[in-house]
Amino acid sequence: MSQNIQQLLENNQAWVKRFEKENPGIFEKLSHQQNPEYLWIGCSDSRVPANTIVGLQPGEVFVHRNVANLVNYTDFNLLSVLEYAVNVLGVSDIILCGHYGCGGVMAAMESQEHGLVDNWLRSIKDIYRENKKAVDALSDSKAQVNLLCELNVKQQVKNLSHTSIVQNAWNNGTHLTIHGVIYSIEDGLLKDMQVSISSIDEVDRLYQLV
Ligand code: CO
Repeated sequence: MSQNIQQLLENNQAWVKRFEKENPGIFEKLSHQQNPEYLWIGCSDSRVPANTIVGLQPGEVFVHRNVANLVNYTDFNLLSVLEYAVNVLGVSDIILCGHYGCGGVMAAMESQEHGLVDNWLRSIKDIYRENKKAVDALSDSKAQVNLLCELNVKQQVKNLSHTSIVQNAWNNGTHLTIHGVIYSIEDGLLKDMQVSISSIDEVDRLYQLV
């Protein structure tokens, strides 16, 4: 069902007409500034499109996506996005979104080489090792993968709270909350993992930088 680029350009023209009709002056308004309240960090998986699943329009969410929605401290791409979203755009909420059945999480659970991506996914093996008893206790492999997907979301929320960018924002009195949610590709529903963090007091002392 692949569409060629000509079809995509035609889709774009139809979308412009429809979107402008529903929101008169929207492109004029967006051309001056962006003022999103949210930073979204999600998986690159094509079935988890940020704006679409939470019903947000252009201009309403700043987005970063990578394989398995990871917050790795050596990733200057993510750190640059985070810094800009927090310090310049002044977002009030960061949404870390994982999804069940994540291929990146599945790959990290296997004892085999996949390529360069194994380096990217390495930190998920650490999460698996730390929670191996709970994960392996589940009887079917799908449930095991899904538990690790949830544990991965929880860890990445913590990782965000361990960055100097987030901690400095809190220290400067900025209201900033990090949320962890997980998406089900099977029914389209998002679940709040109830692991929101909104102050330095909720961060393990060892990881407090400021
Ligand atoms: Co994924």
